[in-house]
Amino acid sequence: MASKYQAPRGTFDILPAQARARARIERAAAAIFARAGYEPIATPAFEDTELFERGVGRSTDIVRKEMFTFEDKGGRSITLRPEGTAPICRAYIEHGMHKLAQPVKLSYLGPFFRHERPQAGRHRQFHQLGAEAIGTDSPLADVEAIMLLADLLAELGTPGVELRLGSLGSLDSRRAYLEELKAHLHAHEGELSRDVRERIDLNPLRAFDADDEGTQAVMAAAPTIVERLDGEDAEHFAEVRALLEAAGIEHTIDPALVRGLDYYTRTIFSFVCEGLGAQSEIGGGGRYDGLIEQLGGPPTPAVGWAAGIERILLALGEDGGAPGRDVFVVVAEDGQRQRALTLAGELRHAGLSAEVDLAGRSLKGQLKHADRLGARRALILEADGSAQLRDMGTGRQRPVDTARLIDEVAGGGS
Ligand code: HAM
Repeated sequence: MASKYQAPRGTFDILPAQARARARIERAAAAIFARAGYEPIATPAFEDTELFERGVGRSTDIVRKEMFTFEDKGGRSITLRPEGTAPICRAYIEHGMHKLAQPVKLSYLGPFFRHERPQAGRHRQFHQLGAEAIGTDSPLADVEAIMLLADLLAELGTPGVELRLGSLGSLDSRRAYLEELKAHLHAHEGELSRDVRERIDLNPLRAFDADDEGTQAVMAAAPTIVERLDGEDAEHFAEVRALLEAAGIEHTIDPALVRGLDYYTRTIFSFVCEGLGAQSEIGGGGRYDGLIEQLGGPPTPAVGWAAGIERILLALGEDGGAPGRDVFVVVAEDGQRQRALTLAGELRHAGLSAEVDLAGRSLKGQLKHADRLGARRALILEADGSAQLRDMGTGRQRPVDTARLIDEVAGGGS
């Protein structure tokens, strides 16, 4: 049936089959986070606009073009969160988490909002899951973070995943490199796209990300920051690579890797899946050693990542399949319907998924419905008070002891 109302452009409804596929991802992530000690945190869906302007950076596409920003009734500027790291750092500062044992390891999951041009894998409301380790500058934390996402993607069976690794150096050491890069860009101004040209001084690194051929040719000859790393930055990068190797995590160094947020320092990484087409990044992140101080907190190094749930689903090429039920309680005659509902309740209390017909179907109709729902077994209540247990896979049926119905069904055999 066509309605004149539809989900807004770039958004979508999550129907039950997709909700099941998502639940599998969310459960796998929650288990991985719990085993590694990354505790869940949730922040509001909107924040003061300034948090993202300061945190994500005024020169980024996200802040310049993609935020859902509006005034609330008190005249304050509010923004639907485009990402989760700045809000989590805000919460870390606001709740004095620097007084806890460091690092504070957090995980999260929820909706995020960016006003982007919608296409496969790119939405205006999408869902991220992510992890942040705040309060450590150890390369071990970088690699632990990467391990979590590598484990999740492997456990889900995500095909064709590649890890790309880069480093941006620390804020101080990056300055000299940025001057060198700006000089290179200015020398080739005429060959750059307008967008890149306008941002040479504001955000020169973004030129590495441009999709027009002119800029790409200029960038192929540009100096890279990975070549310019020195001192502790170079040591940190070497240590991260050695730890990844020791952990058996394959990766390629991508000297031109950049990310769309300004807060990164040192390690950055990106998990891509070639099968995904233009939006090939499943997840990514990196170190952001200056962000908490930038937001008014004490100097606090940190590292983390986020992955897009819709991108993982695309890579898996999967919806949730049939729902699956342990047992469907079928009645041979209407007089048994009340008993069927009571029994379904008892089976549920015993930990099984159990359903009854709520639509007045015939015996045959109920069995067909049970089949459609993917029920493994049907408990058939006969008119004479006896009961049969039917294996829906084989069609084999056997009488069950009505005095011990719950035990017999919960016992698992058919
Ligand atoms: P990000 O790279 O902007 O990083 O987003 C992380 C992931 O979110 C992407 O790899 C992608 O899978 C997904 N994503 C982003 N935009 C969209 C969209 N419009 N539609 C669908 N999926 C999307 C961050 O957000 C950082 N906060 C990650 C981080 C955490 N860095 C350190 N800690």
